[in-house]
Amino acid sequence: MEITLKVRRQDPQSGVEPAQQTYQVDVPPNSTVFDALAQVREDQDGSLAFRGSCSRGFCGDCVMRANGRLTLMCLLRVDRIVRDGAIAVEPAPYAKPVRDVQIDNQQFLWDKYRSVQPWLRTNGAAPQDVTEEAMAEVRKTMRCTMCGLCDFGCTVIDVDTSFLGPAALTKVYRFLVDPRDTATKERLQEMGEPKGMWDCVHCWEASEHCPYGIDPTHRIMDMRDLAMREGVKSGTQNPMVGRHMDSFENSVSESGWLD
Ligand code: SF4
Ligand code: FES
Repeated sequence: MEITLKVRRQDPQSGVEPAQQTYQVDVPPNSTVFDALAQVREDQDGSLAFRGSCSRGFCGDCVMRANGRLTLMCLLRVDRIVRDGAIAVEPAPYAKPVRDVQIDNQQFLWDKYRSVQPWLRTNGAAPQDVTEEAMAEVRKTMRCTMCGLCDFGCTVIDVDTSFLGPAALTKVYRFLVDPRDTATKERLQEMGEPKGMWDCVHCWEASEHCPYGIDPTHRIMDMRDLAMREGVKSGTQNPMVGRHMDSFENSVSESGWLD
C-alpha cells in the first residue's frame, strides 16, 4: 500500500521552525503508522525523530496524532486512518516538543505523577498479607502504561495545563484502594486541593482516550465517592467545595428539593 506520510519536522533547540516534510512509503495495509515511520527512519531519513520502544502498545511512548487522531501509533493501522492516500503525523499536544514528533513529557506528565507520591505510604505499619479479593480493585488500574493519552485528551487540561489530570489522579486511586496503603485521608485531602479531583468536569474524554479500558474518569468519580464516605470533603485551600456540598445537603434535607 503506497502512502504519503506528511510528518511535522521541527527543532526548537536549533531554531528550526515547524514545517511539513513528505515521504513516500510502501507498506502492507495491516502495518501501523509506527511501522511506516520506522521504515522512513530506516530507509530514507535517519534524522527523523520520534519515540516508541515496544511496538506492541506496552511502553506508552508512541503517542502522536495521525490525521488528527490522537493515539498510540503502534496500535493504529495505516489502512484505518489513511485519507486520500496520505497520513499527516503531528506530535501530541501540550507537552514541550523536543524534535520533529518527539515530545518531552517531564513537565506535562512525569512531574505530576511524582507529585502524587505514587508509592505505598504505610506510616510505619507492619507489612500484612493481602487477599486476592482485596486486590481486585487495585488491578483495575494496574494495566495503566502511563501513556498519558487520558491527559492529552482531557478538556480541562486544554484550558489549564496545571490541572493534575486523569493520569496522575488514576495513579492516586490505585494507592487509595490498595489495602496496604494507610494514607487514605491524607491522600484524599491532597487530591481535594485546587487543581485536583474536584477540577474534573467529567466530560469522559479521558475514558474515551484510554486504550486499555481503565476508565480514568470513572476512577476520579470513585475517588470523589470515597472522599464523601471518608468525610474528606475538600482540601485546606479549597473550602468552597465543602460548602457547596453542605448547601446541597441542607437544601435536600430541609425541603426535599435541590434549590
Ligand atoms: S489511564 Fe489509560 S490513558 Fe491514562 S495513562 Fe493509564 S493507560 Fe494511558
Ligand atoms: S511503541 Fe510502545 S506503546 Fe507504541
